[in-house]
Amino acid sequence: MKSRISVAFLTFSSILSVFGNPSPSTVQSEFKKYKEDYEREYDNKFEEYKARKNFGTTLIMVEEHNAAFEEGKSPFKMDLNRFADKDPQKLRQITTNTAPLTPLMMGRAISVINETRYPPGPPFVDWRTSNCITPVKDQSYFCNSCYAFSGIAALEAQWCLKTGQLVTMSEQQIIDCTYNSFYGNWGCDGGSQATAYVRIQQNGGIESDVTYPYLETYGHTDRFPCKFNKSRAVATAGGYYRIKPYKEAQLANIIAIVGPVSAAMNGSTPSFWYYSSGVYSDPQCTQSTSHSVLIVGYGTDYSVTPPMDYWLCKNSWSSDWGDNGYFKIQRGVNMCGISGFLIFPEIPLANITRTTTTASPWIG
Ligand SMILES: *[C@@H]1O[C@H](CO)[C@@H](O)[C@H](O)[C@H]1NC(C)=O
Ligand SMILES: *[C@@H]1O[C@H](CO)[C@@H](O)[C@H](O)[C@H]1NC(C)=O
Ligand SMILES: *[C@@H]1O[C@H](CO)[C@@H](O)[C@H](O)[C@H]1NC(C)=O
Ligand SMILES: *[C@@H]1O[C@H](CO)[C@@H](O)[C@H](O)[C@H]1NC(C)=O
Repeated sequence: MKSRISVAFLTFSSILSVFGNPSPSTVQSEFKKYKEDYEREYDNKFEEYKARKNFGTTLIMVEEHNAAFEEGKSPFKMDLNRFADKDPQKLRQITTNTAPLTPLMMGRAISVINETRYPPGPPFVDWRTSNCITPVKDQSYFCNSCYAFSGIAALEAQWCLKTGQLVTMSEQQIIDCTYNSFYGNWGCDGGSQATAYVRIQQNGGIESDVTYPYLETYGHTDRFPCKFNKSRAVATAGGYYRIKPYKEAQLANIIAIVGPVSAAMNGSTPSFWYYSSGVYSDPQCTQSTSHSVLIVGYGTDYSVTPPMDYWLCKNSWSSDWGDNGYFKIQRGVNMCGISGFLIFPEIPLANITRTTTTASPWIG
C-alpha cells in the first residue's frame, strides 16, 4: 500500500511564492516525492511532462483549499491522492456515468418505501459498527463501474444484516452479465445498480469476488462474456426497493432501520476528487448525478463551525482515497444530488436463515 502523500508539513507560504504560485522547484520536488509514493512509471517523457503539469495544477488547488480550511472557510480538507497527476478531462469521464436511464431502471422496484412509517432515528448512525460492511474496494482509474460497486456494496451490507453472513461479492459479474440495452448497462461506460439487482434475481444469485474476480484494474476495459455459475453463488437478491428522492430527514429515519442504501451523486467535481477529511460541501457541485456510492450512516460534525449535518458514505476509489475510502457529505441541502436516486436490494425470505442480528446501528 502506497503511503499517503501529504504536503501539510509545508506551510502555505513556503509552497506559494510571492506571486501566489508554487515555484517550479517546489513543484519538481513535490512531484518527485509523489512519483515515489505512488510508484509512478510514465511511458515516455511527454507523458511525464503532462503528469507533472497536472500535478502542479492540483498542488496549487489543494494548497489554496487547505489554507481556506485552516482559516475556517471550508468544512473539509483535500490531499494529493492517486488522481493528483491525472488529466482532469479523463477524470471527469471516469466519474461521469453517462448511461441513459431505461424504463427497467426506474420501473421495476418492488415498491417505493413509505417514508412516513419510519419514526425519527437517533442523532448518529454508523453501520460500520455492525461488522456488516466489507472493506473498501477499488473500481480503478480505468473503469466507470461505480454502479456495480455501489449496487454490490448495498447487497453485501443488506445480505449480512439479514443472514449474518459477511461475504464479498462480484462486481465483474454485474459488469459482464448486464451489458446490453435491456439492462441499460455498458460495462466500463456506466450503468445502473437497479438493473443489476433485477439481473441477479433473474440469474438466481451472485458469485463472490474470489471466484469471479474484478478484471478492469489493468486498463483493459473490454467486456467479457457472462461467466456466472449458479453452483458458486454466495448470495442473491429479490429485486430492489426505491426510496422517494429529496426527503433527507425521512431518509435518515429509513437508514437507521433498514441499513445502508445505494445512492447517486455528482462525483465529477475536482474538489471531490481530492477530498480527504471533514464534511464535503461545495456550492459549485450541481445536483445532476454521475457517480454511485453507499450511504452507511449519518450524523452531525461539531468540529465544523457552525456544526454541519452529514451523510457518511463508502466510496469505491480504494481505501487510499478520502477518509480511509469513506467521506462525509453535507446533509439536508441535497448536496451534489445525494438524495436524488436511492435504492436498496430485497433479500428473499427463502434465503434468510437467521433473523436476529447482533448488529446495532445506534451509536453516540
Ligand atoms: C404511508 O403510511 C401512512 C402511515 O402508516 C399511511 O397513513 C399512508 O396511507 C401510507 N401511504 C401510502 C402511499 O401507502
Ligand atoms: C460451476 O461450478 C462448479 C463448482 O465450483 C464446478 O464444479 C463446475 O464445473 C462449474 N461449471 C462450469 C460450467 O464451469
Ligand atoms: C436462496 O434460496 C433458494 C430457495 O431455498 C435456494 O434455492 C438458493 O440456493 C438460495 N440461494 C443462496 C445464494 O443462498
Ligand atoms: C458536477 O458539478 C460540477 C461543478 O459544478 C460540474 O462541472 C459538472 O458538470 C457536474 N456534473 C454533472 C454530471 O452534472
